[in-house]
Amino acid sequence: MSLDSQILRALRSTEASVSGADLSHRLGISRAAVWARIEEMRRLGYDISASPHLGYKLVSVPDVLHPDELRSRLPESVIIGREIHVYQETTSTNDVVEKFARDGVREGVVVFAESQTKGRGRLGRKWLSPSGKGLWFSILLRPQLRPQCATQLTIAAGTAIRRAISIHTGIEPEIKWPNDILIKKKKVAGILTELNAELDGIRYLILGIGVDVNQSHEDFPPDIRPIATSLSVETKRPILRAELACQLLTELNVEYQKIASKQFHTVAQEWQENCSTLSQQVSIRMGERCVKGVAEALDEDGALLLRTEHGHLERIIGGDVTMEKR
Ligand code: BTN
Repeated sequence: MSLDSQILRALRSTEASVSGADLSHRLGISRAAVWARIEEMRRLGYDISASPHLGYKLVSVPDVLHPDELRSRLPESVIIGREIHVYQETTSTNDVVEKFARDGVREGVVVFAESQTKGRGRLGRKWLSPSGKGLWFSILLRPQLRPQCATQLTIAAGTAIRRAISIHTGIEPEIKWPNDILIKKKKVAGILTELNAELDGIRYLILGIGVDVNQSHEDFPPDIRPIATSLSVETKRPILRAELACQLLTELNVEYQKIASKQFHTVAQEWQENCSTLSQQVSIRMGERCVKGVAEALDEDGALLLRTEHGHLERIIGGDVTMEKR
C-alpha cells in the first residue's frame, strides 16, 4: 500500500489528531517526508489541519477519485480493489483492464476513469460517461468456473451494486434481468461482463460497471431522459463518489467471496428477492429471436428460467427484456 494510503488510513482511524512522530514511526519515514506527503495531498484538495502540539487531522476530502484515497478506505485483505488505478480519461475502462489481463496481471485490479470517450454498454450500445458525474470502472477477475457459469458473476455484481446503493442512499433499487439496476423503473446502473474462456474454464472475466451518480435530469440527452436517472436526482442531494465507490467495492468483495466458495445459491436468493423481472410476463429478445413467457427463477449456473408460452422451461443467458402488458 502506498505511503499516502497509509497516511490516510491512519488519519481516518481516529477522531483525534495523529502526531508527525507517530506517522513517521508507523511508516518508517522521516517527519519531513511525512510533511511533504501531507503537502502533496493538500494540493490534491485534502483539507488536513496541522497543529504543532497535536499533529495532523483529516478535516475533509475532495470528491475526486484517487487510488490512495480509495485503497485507504478498504480493508487490506480485499481481492477486488487490492490494486486501483484512476484515469482522467480513457476509451473504455474495459479496454484498459483487458490489456492488464493479457499482460498477466493478477485478479482484483480495478480501473476507474473520470470519463470515457468510447464507453460501451451491452448489445453494442453506447454508454455515456461524462467527466466527474458517475462511477465508470472495470474489475479483472480470474474465477475458477466453467464458462457456462459466467453469468453468476453478473448476478453477483448486480446484487452487490443494488445493496451498495441501498446502504449508501437508503433507496431500494430493483434489478432487471440480466444486469440493469433500476430506481422507479429508470436505469441508474448497468454491468457489462466480458469473457475470455476456453471450453473447460474461464481465463479471465471483466466486470464493467457504470453508475449514474451526480447527473442532473438535464445532463441526460433528451432521448434517454424518460428511461435514465441518477442517484442525486433520486436522493435530491450530491453523492460523494469516493464513498460510494468504496461501498461498491466492499459489497462486490462480499459477493465474489460467495461465488469463490461455491455459495452461488445465497447470491441468487438475494438477487431473486430484488428482481423486478421474476413472476412477470416478459418477452426476451436475443438477436433475431424473441421468446415470451414468465420468468420463474435462476438456475444453479445463473441462467434465467423462463416458462414459455408453450409451457416449456427455457434457460436464458443475456437478452433484452421487455415487460409485457397484461
Ligand atoms: C449496460 O447496461 O449496457 C452496461 C453498461 C456498462 C458501462 C460500464 S462503464 C465502465 C465500463 N466501461 C465500459 O465501456 N462499459 C462499462
